[in-house]
Amino acid sequence: TSAVRGERVRNPRWIPAKGERKATRRHYLMCPPTYFTVAYAINPWMRPDDPAGAVDPNRVSQQWEALRRVYTTLGHQVSVIDPVPELPDMVFAANGALVVDGMVFGAKFRYAERAPEATHYLEWFKAHAAELGLRSIHVPVAVNEGEGDLLVTRSRILAGTGFRTEPAAHRELERFLARPVVTLRLVDPMLYHLDTALVVLDEETIAYYPPAFAPESQELLRRLYPDAILADEADAMVLGLNAVSDGRHVVLPGEAARLAEQIADRGFEPIPVDISELRKAGGGPKCCTLEIRPASTAVDEAHG
Ligand code: ARG
Repeated sequence: TSAVRGERVRNPRWIPAKGERKATRRHYLMCPPTYFTVAYAINPWMRPDDPAGAVDPNRVSQQWEALRRVYTTLGHQVSVIDPVPELPDMVFAANGALVVDGMVFGAKFRYAERAPEATHYLEWFKAHAAELGLRSIHVPVAVNEGEGDLLVTRSRILAGTGFRTEPAAHRELERFLARPVVTLRLVDPMLYHLDTALVVLDEETIAYYPPAFAPESQELLRRLYPDAILADEADAMVLGLNAVSDGRHVVLPGEAARLAEQIADRGFEPIPVDISELRKAGGGPKCCTLEIRPASTAVDEAHG
């Protein structure tokens, strides 16, 4: 394999033998890190009292702008929600909602520090409902942290629980979307949201870090996704799985070198980004990115 590896280094636009993956155009919602800081600790990455854990405001805004530029350069649409003072984690837009088929499942945060964010995201969707062609907006009853714990594949929603989102929210989502929701139990406090332990690369390809899950959830993942990419500990612990895929390009933290290689071996194109400042709050590219999946009107019309 060392010969193969050498070849890939010399040719950055290496195209895999397994055939080309197809990107589809996405619409993302992001929130600028204007008020981002580590002021409290609601996960073990956050160290508000440690000078080494302090956020450099210039660096974080450069990293966030670079991430946004990656998306627009790839041809994706990026909408931006206004940041709100005193909500430092609002930059993590993924937690603001889950949007599938033009249906918005609002968030309800576990911790008081982030609770007010839910309303700001809901209000944004209400204000843009007509323009986005949204079909319905659901105000949740159970605790759920949006796309942080709720990941979309073709046939099912993969839903995390254990630290933030409650299993009751999985059932609530299932009723709202009328789609199957599979519960996965997270067990590692460093990997407290599903999107830190598992990434959906295309409609049926996922990558995940098995030890982040309870044994019965590992077993379930093995049965549902026998061909999944298995990430190693080093890549999981730099939040390498907190990645965003458009079906071809996979935007991921630059330190996750082995995962990038595994992804490339499957015909995807890894795009490394620097998220070192965001990681001080336990976040990465995926956390900063909420996908807006429009209503599939074309399909309905074709059948109508
Ligand atoms: N500090 C934030 C929290 O603990 C980070 C959120 C990361 N978001 C994510 N989708 N994993 O809530």
